[in-house]
Amino acid sequence: MAKACSLLLLLVFVVSGESVVGRHGNKLSPNHYKSTCPEVLSIVEAHVGAVLKQEPRMGASLLRLHFHDCFVNGCDGSILLDDNSVFTGEKTAAPNNNSARGYDVVDDIKAKLEKACPRVVSCADILAIAARDSTVVLGGPSWKVKLGRRDSTTASKNAARKLIPAPNLNLSALVLSFRAQGLSSKDLVALSGAHTIGLARCASFRARAYDDSNIDPLFAKSLQRRCSRTGKDNVHRSLDLRTPTSFDNFYFRNLLKKKGLLHSDQELFNSGSTDTLVKKYAADSSRFFKQFSKSMIKMGNIKPLTGNSGEIRINCRKVN
Ligand code: HEM
Ligand SMILES: *[C@@H]1O[C@H](CO)[C@@H](O)[C@H](O)[C@H]1NC(C)=O
Ligand SMILES: *[C@@H]1O[C@H](CO)[C@@H](O)[C@H](O)[C@H]1NC(C)=O
Repeated sequence: MAKACSLLLLLVFVVSGESVVGRHGNKLSPNHYKSTCPEVLSIVEAHVGAVLKQEPRMGASLLRLHFHDCFVNGCDGSILLDDNSVFTGEKTAAPNNNSARGYDVVDDIKAKLEKACPRVVSCADILAIAARDSTVVLGGPSWKVKLGRRDSTTASKNAARKLIPAPNLNLSALVLSFRAQGLSSKDLVALSGAHTIGLARCASFRARAYDDSNIDPLFAKSLQRRCSRTGKDNVHRSLDLRTPTSFDNFYFRNLLKKKGLLHSDQELFNSGSTDTLVKKYAADSSRFFKQFSKSMIKMGNIKPLTGNSGEIRINCRKVN
């Protein structure tokens, strides 16, 4: 009976394409640190809360770090590794260079956790918890973060360059990029809603400001004023022009008005297969919130290292 049950369970996972099972068959669980580090959630929450009070944008940056970690060979803290003599890490890969941020915040959280429960909590799990806490602080939904990921002992600049989607992609390329991670187009649309917070550089939206036709003309003009044809690569603009530090559904409402900041954003509402979902989330933020939570859990389940694979890094920037 038990055997039949677990067989059935396995079948359900395989059929639904959920990758909740790690590379070595161990599942992540919200209770992973219950006995080994009961304070983990309160320590991360307090730290994220204090940091965001000073700088709300950091919530966006932390959320994005988890995404960029998970898309490159699984949620294994690889993005946090500095370059060393063995490999060139992910920090200078095009999608991250001069763009990904929040590494110091992760270091500070790790230092606190090393005091409370040495060598127990992985850097990959810190990213997953900080992403959730950031979302909550800025007014978004909450979810139970599954834990038990271990940290990689390697990182790959090339993999980061290839696997993290670029803002010039069209809808079919975005769908393919997410599918390669076991994520659906529903996940793509909901997770893109993370662009309700945070900033992008002129380098990321220049082509949209000058070359796209599915853009509100006044919006395009205002982007062009700040983001010249050449230079000014690092001038920033809010991904959600109306409420850049509130996690809400204005991202989707902007898309309905052709005011998505990135080309990839507007691709989600450009007479294609994802229009219906964008309209749904624009009309009903609770539907967006529900799907965002689900999709974040799914993204957090991408190929975790569990069991004896990987390690619990002591310093998130370095292999032990
Ligand atoms: C769908 C494909 C995606 C593309 C093409 C994309 C692309 C980008 C780009 C180009 C930026 C601006 C970077 C810069 O100019 O420095 C950005 C920022 C951001 N992205 Fe995405 N992204 C995608 C999906 C996601 C997902 C799934 C999440 C999280 C669940 C996310 C969260 C963020 C956040 C929060 C920011 C702002 C970060 C900050 O202010 O520090 N993005 N994204
Ligand atoms: C990263 O950015 C720096 C400038 O801050 C630049 O010198 C360097 O060439 C960039 N690296 C890559 C790999 O693009
Ligand atoms: C989307 O982009 C890919 C890769 O650049 C290209 O091969 C494809 O034709 C594009 N699809 C559409 C519908 O434009």
